[in-house]
Amino acid sequence: MNEAVVILAAGKGTRMQSCLPKVLHQLCGKPIISYVLEVAKASEATEIIVVLPKENQEIKDVIGSSVSYCTQEKALGTADALLSAQSLLKGYNDVIVLSGDVPLVPADLLSSLITKHHETNSSITLVTADVKNPDGLGRVIRNNNGSMSTIVEQIDATGDELAIGEINAGIYMFEASWLWNSLPKLPRAKSGEVYLTSLIHSAALDNKDMATVKVNEEYEVLGINNQIQLSIAENYMREKINMKFMLNGVTIPDPKTVYIDTDVAISTGTIIKPNTHLLGKSIIAGRSEIGPNTVVRNTTVGIQCKIESSYVFDSHIGNGVSIGPFSNVRSNTTLAKGVRVGNFVEIKNSKVAENTRILHHSYIGDAEIGKNVNIGAGTITCNFDGVTKNYTKIGDEAFIGSNTMMVAPLKIGIGAKTGAGSVITSDVPDGATVIGVPARIKT
Ligand code: UD1
Ligand code: CA
Repeated sequence: MNEAVVILAAGKGTRMQSCLPKVLHQLCGKPIISYVLEVAKASEATEIIVVLPKENQEIKDVIGSSVSYCTQEKALGTADALLSAQSLLKGYNDVIVLSGDVPLVPADLLSSLITKHHETNSSITLVTADVKNPDGLGRVIRNNNGSMSTIVEQIDATGDELAIGEINAGIYMFEASWLWNSLPKLPRAKSGEVYLTSLIHSAALDNKDMATVKVNEEYEVLGINNQIQLSIAENYMREKINMKFMLNGVTIPDPKTVYIDTDVAISTGTIIKPNTHLLGKSIIAGRSEIGPNTVVRNTTVGIQCKIESSYVFDSHIGNGVSIGPFSNVRSNTTLAKGVRVGNFVEIKNSKVAENTRILHHSYIGDAEIGKNVNIGAGTITCNFDGVTKNYTKIGDEAFIGSNTMMVAPLKIGIGAKTGAGSVITSDVPDGATVIGVPARIKT
């Protein structure tokens, strides 16, 4: 196969009314453009070129170096955008064009486009859709015999044309030799832009063969031009994600209130309760119970865990762990098998070994806690001295009395005990019991 994909992403995105480039807005946890890139990468095309505006570093930082780039100096329209990629496309027989703001395109739609293009030997093959509300979109105008004669953009359309429900989806495949010959000759539209869609009229005048592929589901080609369309796409995609998990054995009693990002994995037998957000690259193993009112982001959760009304970010949660209600586990924390974190507990950048309990009103930061430790209510690792964060290490089987303050850096020995209300300012040997302020060894 000798075809390349060009993704147009150099438009101003004015209708978003946002300082963020349009294609970087998030859709179920990933920028809009990354979905278009994924579908392009899944196709048979051998090269992908993204057309970017002049100020483009922010977009390049997100996309990375797996594709080629070209720059459209000024947003003079979709035809001009494609023309700016021409020098990178020498030697390709066919060029596929995708819009950077049409992210829900399924991979098989692109395969159908490619197959249809080759089967019909067309100069242009384009994707169209019958939509309920064609407002703002290019209308496909057909002759009495059903063949396409032109595409009319909304601002140029007559009343009759506006009533047409078949729209141009912004996804095309072109015969390269005809394309490069015709593009520079296109007229400037009333808006001052040169429209890629004007090629349809040129091809009709040149008696070139054209074909269309119509989508079954209009959402697949939903374009995102404003914040309302972004939320429509988000809701559509979210519903699809939730349905996929339910069909795979995940229980979601109230999917309308469950938000799962596109890259999240969840195994069979898990229950996701209402008002729960599973975000980023989280992986949730089977038979866990997550929610209600919980946010889990970029975290792996083991089997048979229970996380209720809590936040868990950027962490690893082992099998059989329970967290919550009302706790905050974050920043590279690892909770080993059987750990119990109760209510009003914050844990950050810490490792907690098997079966340790931290059940009430505690702050554990920059700490390593052994197994079978009991952390009493109100315990605090005083990790910050105003300049640096200091480490606390607590040995296996230790018993930390309620309201203990551990002034880091500090090491509490294996099996050591601290009295209620003690303030620990120096290391505690294995097996020792310390009490008081500052704490001293109880003899
Ligand atoms: C475009 C089509 C319209 C179609 C719709 C489908 C044109 C003229 N119109 O309209 O027929 O129904 O998509 O979603 O093509 N872009 C550039 N440089 C530019 C202008 C745009 O790279 O100078 C890029 C944009 O970043 C965007 C894509 O091209 O990714 C489409 O541009 P946009 O302005 O969103 O076109 P629509 O009005 O949606
Ligand atoms: Ca658009």
